[in-house]
Amino acid sequence: MEQNEHPTTTQSISKSAVGIGLFAVLSAAVIAVTQVTTVDRIDANIREAESRALFEIFPASIDARLFDHRIELEAGQLNIEPGTTGYQAIQDDQVVGVILPVTSSQGYSGDIDLIVGINADSTIAGVRVISHQETPGLGDKIDRAKSDWIESFKGALRNGPDDSNWAVKKDGGQFDQFTGATITPRAVVKATGVALDYFESQKNLLLSPATREKSHAE
Ligand SMILES: Cc1cc2nc3c(=O)[nH]c(=O)nc-3n(C[C@H](O)[C@H](O)[C@H](O)COP(=O)(O)O)c2cc1C
Repeated sequence: MEQNEHPTTTQSISKSAVGIGLFAVLSAAVIAVTQVTTVDRIDANIREAESRALFEIFPASIDARLFDHRIELEAGQLNIEPGTTGYQAIQDDQVVGVILPVTSSQGYSGDIDLIVGINADSTIAGVRVISHQETPGLGDKIDRAKSDWIESFKGALRNGPDDSNWAVKKDGGQFDQFTGATITPRAVVKATGVALDYFESQKNLLLSPATREKSHAE
C-alpha cells in the first residue's frame, strides 16, 4: 500500500525525465518557430529596403512601375543569388537606365549586397547598400541611413575598366575612405566596377525594351 502512495525513486526519475523531455521538445519547437519568423522578417526587411532604394535611384517620376520591369541577369558575373533580377527604368517607352544587383565578398565582415543604377549614357544614377554586416561606426557608413558617402557615386562616370580613378583615395582614386576603415568602401567601389563591367558588356541587351518583355511577363 505504502508503495503506491509514495513513488519509488525509479518512478520519480522517470517522471522527471518525461518532464525534461517534454520541456526540451517544447523549447526546440519554440526556437524553430522563432527562427523561421525571424528569417521571414529579415527577408521582408531586405525586400522593403530594396524597393525603397530602387525608387531612390530612379524615382517614381521616371518610372512608377520600375518594380515590374525586371530583367534576367547572369548571376555568376555579378556574384548574386541565381534568380535575382535587375530592373529597367522606362521613360516614354525608352530604357533610360538599369539597376543591377551586385554582391561584394570583400567586405570586412561578410557579403555586401548592393544595387547599382546605371544611366543609358553609362553614368551612375545611384548606388544603395541593401544589406551588410560591417562594423557600426566604421564600415557601416556605406549605408545611406548612416552617412551620405554612397551619394558620391551619383553622376560619376568611369573612364573604361582601367580607370585608376575608380578607387578609394588611399588607392589613388576619387572616392573617400573612412577614418580607420578602408576595406569596406574599397569593396563597394570595386563592386560598382563589376556592375559597370557587366553593363558595358551587355549594354545592348540591357537597354533593349525587348529584353524585359521577353524575360518577364508583366
Ligand atoms: C573590431 C574591428 C572592426 C573593424 N571593422 C571594420 C569595418 O567594418 N570596415 C573596415 O573597412 N575596417 C574595419 N576595421 C579596420 C580594418 O581592420 C582595417 O584596419 C582598416 O579597414 C584599414 O583601413 P586603413 O588602411 O584606413 O587603416 C575594423 C577593425 C577592428 C579592430
